[in-house]
Amino acid sequence: MDGDIWDKYYRLKQNPFVVKAVEKGGIVPLTTFYGRTLQIKKLKSHIETNERSLTLIVGDPGVGKTSFVNVVRQKDLTEYFTPRKEIDCQRDFDSSKFMINILDTIYETLDQMENKEKYQTVYDFIKRTGHFNNESGKQLSLQSHSYLKALLEKITKKVKESGFKGIILHFNNLENFVIDDDTKFKNFLMGIRDVLLLDNCHFVFVGNREASDRFNANQKVKTIVTDLMKLPPLSENDIKTIVKKRLEVFRIGDVKYLEPVTEDTIEFLYKLHSGNIREILTALDYAVKNADKIKSLGKQINESMTKTILKKVVEEDSKELTPRTYEVLKYMIKKGNATNSEITKELEIHAQNTSTYIKELLEAGFIGLEKKTGKMKIYVPKNKSLWYTIEPDKGTQYSLNSFG
Ligand SMILES: Nc1ncnc2c1ncn2[C@@H]1O[C@H](COP(=O)(O)OP(=O)(O)O)[C@@H](O)[C@H]1O
Ligand SMILES: [Mg+2]
Repeated sequence: MDGDIWDKYYRLKQNPFVVKAVEKGGIVPLTTFYGRTLQIKKLKSHIETNERSLTLIVGDPGVGKTSFVNVVRQKDLTEYFTPRKEIDCQRDFDSSKFMINILDTIYETLDQMENKEKYQTVYDFIKRTGHFNNESGKQLSLQSHSYLKALLEKITKKVKESGFKGIILHFNNLENFVIDDDTKFKNFLMGIRDVLLLDNCHFVFVGNREASDRFNANQKVKTIVTDLMKLPPLSENDIKTIVKKRLEVFRIGDVKYLEPVTEDTIEFLYKLHSGNIREILTALDYAVKNADKIKSLGKQINESMTKTILKKVVEEDSKELTPRTYEVLKYMIKKGNATNSEITKELEIHAQNTSTYIKELLEAGFIGLEKKTGKMKIYVPKNKSLWYTIEPDKGTQYSLNSFG
């Protein structure tokens, strides 16, 4: 159904509300990026004025961190070599996996490049090491840390000789890794400290608030963080412009398209989701795709319609929940977040049952795991749960309204 409605009703190549990070050559191309002018300038000059750097980029999930770093390294700092894909932090990271990930993405980027000219010496060098083939992970994991570090050092040197200013390495979703175990994380950071200090290597670590706190908690590691940047939500106008840009990018040649949503819809969702662009895009997507619930499929969706649709969506989805689970959800929405034991105590449920309810809510996408400290897990209601709080406008005739 997805592919259909955008072309059929709106005459767009694809879903303009797709939640994918902006990236070079990606579904959501660099040209759709907008805003963050000051932050771009700051990160750019930080990298350019330092021989080496380690920047922490901090912000809420969905605020636009990955896109921001992609744009800076892929569009604004093209004199630097940077792997095509960011490296996703993994739960099982250790210093060896960290190094192998770096070396592999560098190799992969060069290997997949059609026009290698500028990169040929680096590529030849890496190939000559004989480490990179289908089994490179296995082979490299047998090597010592100092060997892997020396390899990266040599590659960086070749990169410089080829005329680049250095290498930019983007590590994404730091929280995937640090959420687990404090000591493990500290040991890991100490184990890679010498790599983070390599000349001409610029590390950009992206994560949530908690991840950066943990990073900074270690004195020895803290000293190598050269900059910390917080990314606030984009402005309402930024988001309106971004939606417009996406429509232009996804239009079909010079075919006239219909804007799927009105500006007041974006304004309403901006407030509801406190400016979180990912949640706003998700809500827009739901509103348009579920317009049949108010017999308005293919129409331009306004604020009033959006309210009714989203409320219906969330109510229908929660019909599947048992009454008890629904109660747990309501409690969590009211409270903002909750732990397993709080729910058990406050709602007087058996601990085992609480786990079942939580599992059900997680699976239905109503809540998410916010953080995990030791054995304690804190859950938060997700964007969808906020739609419960919507008060639909009264007395609106959608079938009339929508012909405008
Ligand atoms: N400045 C921006 N300009 C255009 N689109 C953006 C911008 N920031 C974020 N987006 C879009 O918003 C969504 C969330 O961004 P993302 O970078 O994935 O957030 P995060 O990494 O913080 O979770 C993506 O679909 C992305 O394309
Ligand atoms: Mg991200």
